[in-house]
Amino acid sequence: MEFSVQTANPAKVETACLVIPVFKDGELLPTAAKLDDASERLIGQLLEREDFTATLANVQLIPFAPGLNADRLLLVGLGERDKCNEGGYRKALDAAFDKLAKLSIDETAVALTDVPVPERDSLWKARMIAEAAQRGTYRFNAFKSRPEPLPKLERVTLLVSENDDANRAKEGARIGDAIGNGINTTRTLGNLPGNVCTPRYLAEKAEHLGQISKGTLSVEILDEDALATLGANALLSVGRGSAEPSRLIVMQYQGADDPDEAPHVLVGKGITFDTGGISLKPGDAMDEMKFDMCGAASVFGTVQAVLDIKPKINLVAIVAAAENMPDGRATKPGDIIKTLKGLSVEVLNTDAEGRLVLSDALTYAERFEPASVIDIATLTGAAIIALGHHATGLLSNDDDLALDVLDASETAWDRAWHLPLWDEYQEQLDSNFADLANIGGRPAGTITAGCFLSRFADKYPWAHLDIAGTAWHSGKQKGATGRPVGLLTQYLLDRETDTQTESEG
Ligand code: BES
Ligand code: MN
Ligand code: ZN
Repeated sequence: MEFSVQTANPAKVETACLVIPVFKDGELLPTAAKLDDASERLIGQLLEREDFTATLANVQLIPFAPGLNADRLLLVGLGERDKCNEGGYRKALDAAFDKLAKLSIDETAVALTDVPVPERDSLWKARMIAEAAQRGTYRFNAFKSRPEPLPKLERVTLLVSENDDANRAKEGARIGDAIGNGINTTRTLGNLPGNVCTPRYLAEKAEHLGQISKGTLSVEILDEDALATLGANALLSVGRGSAEPSRLIVMQYQGADDPDEAPHVLVGKGITFDTGGISLKPGDAMDEMKFDMCGAASVFGTVQAVLDIKPKINLVAIVAAAENMPDGRATKPGDIIKTLKGLSVEVLNTDAEGRLVLSDALTYAERFEPASVIDIATLTGAAIIALGHHATGLLSNDDDLALDVLDASETAWDRAWHLPLWDEYQEQLDSNFADLANIGGRPAGTITAGCFLSRFADKYPWAHLDIAGTAWHSGKQKGATGRPVGLLTQYLLDRETDTQTESEG
């Protein structure tokens, strides 16, 4: 998709559709001052005639707008002016692009000038528009013999006012475009079935990213032999029951001027299918366990966005990929394994496999002497009980890092919520036979999973994102959401600003 920026004067816009946000009190945006009189009067008349209620995310298409240089007008409700915030703006944009994707148009203009989202500038608004355009036109048709026709939308013009910084808007569109594409890559990887998207498939995906990166991304794949030599037995123990071999995938991006600058590390849970293993899951909705690699998918999407945006940071992305199956060779409840870190783990439930593959990946991350490590995982059903489907669960051993992650999650409007990682919870992992058990009982399942990971993440500032409730939708809208690519990319972009501020100061 192509994004361009133009100073707002709807009379001069030539486009198939013009998207105009409207507040509930009928106030028009862009404000009267920015519109030429004729267009303003015209739109005002249209509004009256159409009797449009500008409740949040209500959209109305006016198919014929004589006098304006647009074939049609799309009115988008923003609700009440003094309640306008990030979430509302984003919701309105989603509704607008949902509608635009269903129209047979290839071009649209969106007025972003003067929409007052407190503390957010035109860069942020443009970023949101571009991201929403990408998300709204995404379709996953790979396996349908008669796919529905794809949305035609190809060009989006962002209308800014003369007081707006057009360059900021341009930069916002560039970032939003990259993030939107990254989100859609993550959705596709998540949506692919388990018989296609295997650990080896994910490894190929990494190799592919390396190839198209023109040398900026180096990729290393550890196969089962390499993992055995290394001693990554926790990762290997999960894939033991599967005919699909496990992989540890390592991608390195060097964007900082100093190649030795400490990297930020992302670690993704890549269980390409989770049957539960010998502790077999019930059959109900088990198909959704193809989404158990959405943490890994979000790492790929974020790497792709970073390759597009090229921030001046160093990044290491690690994906721990395995398929969790029951089998004669599979790990059994009670089995004790020796992790890469040297800690022994009693596997009391083979369905708590995510923390096992992550534990070795987190240990592997130590060698990069990271500035920070964030792991992303569809780790616990308990996260859905605690937070539902709106917030990603956040646990961390470093309060500054947790705040940085929360800050990025607000900016991206890909929100997370901080849960306590207090020492008091750790004893739930005590084992009679090994250094620790892989489950902590029913109370606070998301937190004890975080406690487990924390034992392997003691060498660096670390945060854990439990995306069990946010990585995909169930039911009629079943499909991967692409979360938390927005959060992660924002977090990394904010780190670029950090190092700039440090070297200036
Ligand atoms: N992948 C699941 C977590 C999950 C379940 C995510 C349902 C989304 C929806 C994970 O591997 C798992 O099975 N966790 C167990 C842990 C338990 C055995 C301690 C769970 O949540 O039941
Ligand atoms: Mn499981
Ligand atoms: Zn799982």
